[in-house]
Amino acid sequence: MRFKHTRTARAASVVVALLAWACAPTQTEPESMRSIETSQFGVIEGEPVTLFTLTNASGASVGIIEYGGIVVSLNMPDRDGNLGDVVLGFDTLDAYVADTPYFGAITGRYANRIAGGKFEIDGTTYELPVNNGPNSLHGGIKGFDKVIWQGTPTESGDGVSFSYVSQDGEEGYPGRLEATVSYTWTDDNELQIDYEASTDKPTVINLTNHSYFNLKDGGASPILDHVLMINADHYTPVDATSIPLGEIASLDGSPLDFREPTAIGARIGDENEQLGFGAGYDHNYVISRDADGLALAATVSEPETGRAMDVLTAEPGVQFYSGNFLDGHHIGKGQVAYQHRSGLCLETQHYPDSPNQPDFPSTVLRPGETYKTSTVYKFYTR
Ligand code: BGC
Repeated sequence: MRFKHTRTARAASVVVALLAWACAPTQTEPESMRSIETSQFGVIEGEPVTLFTLTNASGASVGIIEYGGIVVSLNMPDRDGNLGDVVLGFDTLDAYVADTPYFGAITGRYANRIAGGKFEIDGTTYELPVNNGPNSLHGGIKGFDKVIWQGTPTESGDGVSFSYVSQDGEEGYPGRLEATVSYTWTDDNELQIDYEASTDKPTVINLTNHSYFNLKDGGASPILDHVLMINADHYTPVDATSIPLGEIASLDGSPLDFREPTAIGARIGDENEQLGFGAGYDHNYVISRDADGLALAATVSEPETGRAMDVLTAEPGVQFYSGNFLDGHHIGKGQVAYQHRSGLCLETQHYPDSPNQPDFPSTVLRPGETYKTSTVYKFYTR
């Protein structure tokens, strides 16, 4: 069924797509629960903001809103089959608009930091708003996490595509950028995110999703018992303002080494300059890969519930952030105050500050080129 995309149609809370699975159930095949529902999550600048809830055949679901393309909920089974929300976030749009540390959002145009809020392309210097110490973080003051993305269910019926046009000069970045981020929710509990963009002037781009995960209880307790594996032999060490030094350093002997699955809390308090700079883990890992395309970046699991998540990506890096700056002042879903380290992020990306680091993989996008990348968050139990 083709989804007719009008504001009126979206305002009503209706089931808009039921796939072929929904055809007459037999005795052996249980009825599929697959659906995409829309409802109004709130209103901003007079415009309704739609929440798309994608439910797969087994009943696991993901909720995504047009504001910031934010993943507001991800209901995953534990090893006994009980669904639980595994991402941090808020109950209302107003709370997201008021103050969020990028919970669940698409971050861009440049996810992570650009040193001094400056970079140069073809001899022209561009200046960006500085919003994190001396640096520009996550696209500036009004980055992609704070704009309205136009959401449309995909033809395949298992996803929603979010589009946004960023004007030339927006937040200091050159070029009119047309961006689309598509979320697909499979029956295997995989959230696939496909990013695509094009520009009419040379620019830089680095898009990611900034979900904070807590596989145990969605953020009611710290993530320190979660066991993490990061598929990286190297990382990009930083200075005191979290800007890479330019070096691709070995993880041998470092408390940042997660090649062997290790509890996040096991070494987070170690005396270590890099852990000091990040106030814990807040570092970009260089993913070990043999070929282009999707590679395993990380696996995280939670022993009590048995929930686990693999992160696969076509990107060269992943920022592991252990929620060090959460301090209890964000009151999230179900009135939970998100305390220090109650969520973890695995932000797939190009390396921080690449526009100023000639030896890092390039983040320059030129007219005629298409920026295309994908990341998959795959959930399962152990
Ligand atoms: C950064 C952290 C920052 C967090 C929230 C992460 O991507 O690496 O330093 O505190 O985003 O802004």
